Amino acid sequence: MTTLTKRTSTPSIAVFPNHKVAKINRNIYSGFTEHMGRCIYTGLYDPTNPNKHLITPEGFRKDVLEALAPLNIPIFRYPGGNFCATYHWQDGIGAVDQRPSRPELAWGNVETNHFGTDEFMSWCKAANTQPYLCLNFGTGTLDEAMAWVEYCNGKNDTYYANLRRKHGHEEPYNVKYWALGNEMWGPWQINQMTQEAYAERALQWAKALKLLDPTVELVLCGKEGATTWDYYTLKHCLQPAGLSDLGEERVPLIDMHSIHLYTASEDHYENVTAPLAAERAIEVCSGLIDLAFIENKLLPTQKRPTICFDEWNVWSPPRAPGSKGAEEQYTLSDALAVAVWLNVLVRKAKDVGMACIAQSVNVLSPLMTTESGLIRQTTWWPYELFCRFMKGHTIAVHVACDSYEGSTKPDWVRALKETPWLDVSATVDDEGWVSMCVVNMHVEKNLETTLGGTEGAKVTVYTVTGSNQTATNMAGKEEVGMAESQWEPTKDSRFVFPKCSITMLRWKGS
Ligand code: AHR
Repeated sequence: MTTLTKRTSTPSIAVFPNHKVAKINRNIYSGFTEHMGRCIYTGLYDPTNPNKHLITPEGFRKDVLEALAPLNIPIFRYPGGNFCATYHWQDGIGAVDQRPSRPELAWGNVETNHFGTDEFMSWCKAANTQPYLCLNFGTGTLDEAMAWVEYCNGKNDTYYANLRRKHGHEEPYNVKYWALGNEMWGPWQINQMTQEAYAERALQWAKALKLLDPTVELVLCGKEGATTWDYYTLKHCLQPAGLSDLGEERVPLIDMHSIHLYTASEDHYENVTAPLAAERAIEVCSGLIDLAFIENKLLPTQKRPTICFDEWNVWSPPRAPGSKGAEEQYTLSDALAVAVWLNVLVRKAKDVGMACIAQSVNVLSPLMTTESGLIRQTTWWPYELFCRFMKGHTIAVHVACDSYEGSTKPDWVRALKETPWLDVSATVDDEGWVSMCVVNMHVEKNLETTLGGTEGAKVTVYTVTGSNQTATNMAGKEEVGMAESQWEPTKDSRFVFPKCSITMLRWKGS
């Protein structure tokens, strides 16, 4: 919870570590790896790279695994995205040289299927993370979806569980999270559906999948959170915990509701305030979940679904077209936008059960591979800082500060949200460490700010900034990095947030 007071001479921020607002589900720091551009091939998996020292015996990029390790990313979504709509998972199992190459229609490529389910499971093991699989709602069938769940999770003496064993994987993978399709509302989607057609199909598939494996968690395909599609699909599919014919166990069919949003603008202020649209979308969507819950008379004891923001990021398709692999070259302005995105996810921790940055390597990604190494884009730094430090509980913050008053994208942002120059969120972890992220969006003003709640603390300060908002790390030199320093606040001392910067302050609370 961040409360805001407008118009003051000196900005001030007060942090209340004892006022816990919501428990943060670490799954909000999840990733996404799609068969798109260079995400899988040469991103995760690069067995033919001549620099053998960069590659594990399984063909994985060692440097990518090493870069991701300290971030402890809990979950990776796979294999898409739009790619899912024509993906037949059985093309990607068994002897690699016998797997079929297929036309890939979402991004206009040829899919060799050299990397498939077993390779992804093995990569997840190497990355110490959990898989989240997205089902083919385009050209796929329910039979095929059930077979995939059985292949991954089957424990019994059944055909697909035995096929997995035959491929050398005795133990089930226990894949917990499954998505009921991806962006089925989109005109670009193969077998695009009406909300009525999608909702009925999702409900019927959910029933079958939960009968097959009641331990799986199913994610309904919503849209952007604040749309009629979101309301309709929630209302149709949020049924009272069902499957009661199975006995005492009452299993809810839908565990999470997926929404997607990409933001971007060439204008810095529109760019950095755009993620606030996601904050409003979460608020509206959370209301729609409640409405469906109430109207459908769900039992008070039934688990309320959370939001799965399983694609979020800065993406300007004209700048980085999907058909060309969406290799965004992120600027300092984009890094600030990503930090605001992450502030939003922390502020809305009560409503968000999972969120996946889209994507994790090469495609719209903070991390880029070259044949011989890695580049950390500007957006890497806020992502790393949040994954490492912003955990435990969201805590209350009060910000008193002037606001940006120009145009926004979408234009309704300023009508529905506050747009203070300082965008803030704060957390306290289980060991009592307080972390606060402050984004100073202003490109001309350093903002000297009083910081209540820090007196006497030894504060570690992480600062991410650069010469100006257009600085990037893709031009052969790192123009945007992270600096670490110490600050010991005294009574009435003020902290200066540099113009166009991200600052993370971290101290041990009393
Ligand atoms: O992440 C890139 C693409 O954006 C995904 O495939 C799709 O779901 C979204 O439109």
